[in-house]
Amino acid sequence: MNNLEQNYTQPLGLDVGTSRVVVARAQDQNQVYESQLNAFVTLPYSKLAESLLQREDVFHEVQGAEIVVAGNDAEKFAEVFHVDTRRPMANGVLNPGEAHSLAVVRRIVTRLVGRAAVEGQKVFFSVPAQGDNVDGAIRYHEASMRQILAELGYAATPIEEGLAVVYGELAASNFSGVGVSCGSGLCNVCLAVLSVPVISFSVAKAGDFIDANAALVTGDRANRLRIAKENTFQFNGFTGDRQHNALTVYYQEVIAGLIGSLRAHIASAQRLPRLEQAVPLVLSGGTAMPKGFLDHFLKILEAEEFPLRLSEVRVAGDPLHSTARGALMAALC
Ligand SMILES: Nc1ncnc2c1ncn2[C@@H]1O[C@H](COP(=O)(O)OP(=O)(O)OP(=O)(O)O)[C@@H](O)[C@H]1O
Ligand SMILES: [Mg+2]
Repeated sequence: MNNLEQNYTQPLGLDVGTSRVVVARAQDQNQVYESQLNAFVTLPYSKLAESLLQREDVFHEVQGAEIVVAGNDAEKFAEVFHVDTRRPMANGVLNPGEAHSLAVVRRIVTRLVGRAAVEGQKVFFSVPAQGDNVDGAIRYHEASMRQILAELGYAATPIEEGLAVVYGELAASNFSGVGVSCGSGLCNVCLAVLSVPVISFSVAKAGDFIDANAALVTGDRANRLRIAKENTFQFNGFTGDRQHNALTVYYQEVIAGLIGSLRAHIASAQRLPRLEQAVPLVLSGGTAMPKGFLDHFLKILEAEEFPLRLSEVRVAGDPLHSTARGALMAALC
């Protein structure tokens, strides 16, 4: 733990994301972020390997016959050994198929937030909203995160990810509008009026869906497609590049699915408050980052009438930090 963390007694915002965990701290009028990949690799234990990792200051832990390398260091090791990193979370919650899931998330969260500087220090942490496949799992995930943070001395409060985006991005509209986080495991959505959530839901197709499906049709590893997507992908139609075309197809499916769910949820809401004014919709999360994402989103959105009057649709200025920032804003309120 560094000096900043030890001296920091104010509330924290924590984004527990499927691919990255991000902590936000308030500093003067700004926010300071730190993040770790929510990933790990395991190596067979040997005394020599352990002492080398210690010497190189690699973030690791010995677990029985294995050494678990977690966080940002996991990616470097995966490259060296030509293996895919393993993921402690899937679809926005602890990964039920991964025995190390809870231990790795605990290590990563502990590394990022440290012990509370004062007993009962406030932290707001993101959780997914209900949606296809994740409903029951959210309660276990949320209880596990709360327990990890309580053991570190924090008073922890969950906040749905879409609502965190509203807190982080929609202060100018009095926290009224639609916050969307297009992440790796899920897209999370919240329509809030004056900071009160009215509709919240998650959709199971997001960045991981794009990588996995594009990889299936090109015959590559999903990680390779992810790297291509993050480094070079943009919405510019079909080209001569197979990977690009596969990414385009599944990206379009994610956007169409998200807009379809938005329409369905808003149109079927029983108690939608009467809104005097049109409200903004903000898109955040890593999956909203490629060039042309907003144009494509608008094209699909405008193709049919939308059941809510929107004043603007925009991508957040810092999409990878919106959730942590919003969780911090909520914790500071
Ligand atoms: N520049 C980029 N272009 C396209 N995709 C990107 C870019 N940067 C990150 N991503 C993708 O965004 C996703 C990660 O986004 P984010 O960090 O918002 O997700 P998360 O919060 O970890 O996941 P979730 O909210 O679903 O639990 C991954 O699928 C990643 O490949
Ligand atoms: Mg997220």
